[in-house]
Amino acid sequence: MTGGVLRAYELRGGDLAAALDWLHVHADLQGVLEEDDRLVVWLEGELPALPQPALRVVELAVDPADALRTGLEDDAPILVAEDLLVRPPWVERPAGFAGIELVVPRGDAFGSGEHGSTQAALRCLHRLWQDSTSVADVGTGSGILALYASVRGCRDLQGCDIDLPSVRAARELLPHGRFAHGGPELLAPAACVVANMTGAELRAAMAEILRLWDGAGPLVLGGMRAAEVEPIAALVGSTPVHRETVGDFTSLGFGPRR
Ligand SMILES: C[S@@+](CC[C@H](N)C(=O)[O-])C[C@H]1O[C@@H](n2cnc3c(N)ncnc32)[C@H](O)[C@@H]1O
Repeated sequence: MTGGVLRAYELRGGDLAAALDWLHVHADLQGVLEEDDRLVVWLEGELPALPQPALRVVELAVDPADALRTGLEDDAPILVAEDLLVRPPWVERPAGFAGIELVVPRGDAFGSGEHGSTQAALRCLHRLWQDSTSVADVGTGSGILALYASVRGCRDLQGCDIDLPSVRAARELLPHGRFAHGGPELLAPAACVVANMTGAELRAAMAEILRLWDGAGPLVLGGMRAAEVEPIAALVGSTPVHRETVGDFTSLGFGPRR
């Protein structure tokens, strides 16, 4: 951005995805809002003539204050439990809060605390936590579940993710942890194992997840939709001792086996 005047254009009709692809190549877009039936783009100067005659283009008024917004102004602490919250580093700790804080920057990786599956997994882990000496976090995303273990004093932290930006984010969040790019077969057994993934991903990785769990601490499985809960629980071979549901997502906690 060169500091020029920002203009906004609304596009409707025609192939909006193709229009956006074309604009990415032919204009220096400063912002994009994609909705079902319209596209709004911000750029300095005039919108170039698009090669789609069917598109209806309307210029929108731009409030100069919008150009100063970073998108971070509306962030707030997320209270996951009475004594557990997640916040990004740019949001202050709420006055008077004396519980556990997980400070996670909202970046490219899944797991900033907003999603129901993360909250349900955190609640389960929080409920069953018992000073585990080692934790393996399968599908670590931002590293948020491993961060919980770290904040509770666990020093032996491992995690993995098939998504490289997630692995990088987790390594940045927890430089003393060991984060592998790939699946659970890359990890060593741990007392506590956590895995917050879709039901299909849990099912596919279950043999390796159970191999990792040495049984000295809890096993927490998250990310299941209602119909997936019982079939996934049956794969573990023991009865869950705790469950949490947030929105559409359930997390199951299994107690130590020994
Ligand atoms: C729902 S996110 C959970 C992120 C974070 N643990 C949380 O609780 O918010 C699931 C993550 O699992 C990763 N994933 C999916 N299948 C995987 C597999 N077989 N092995 C490792 N990671 C996997 C995805 O790339 C994604 O980052």
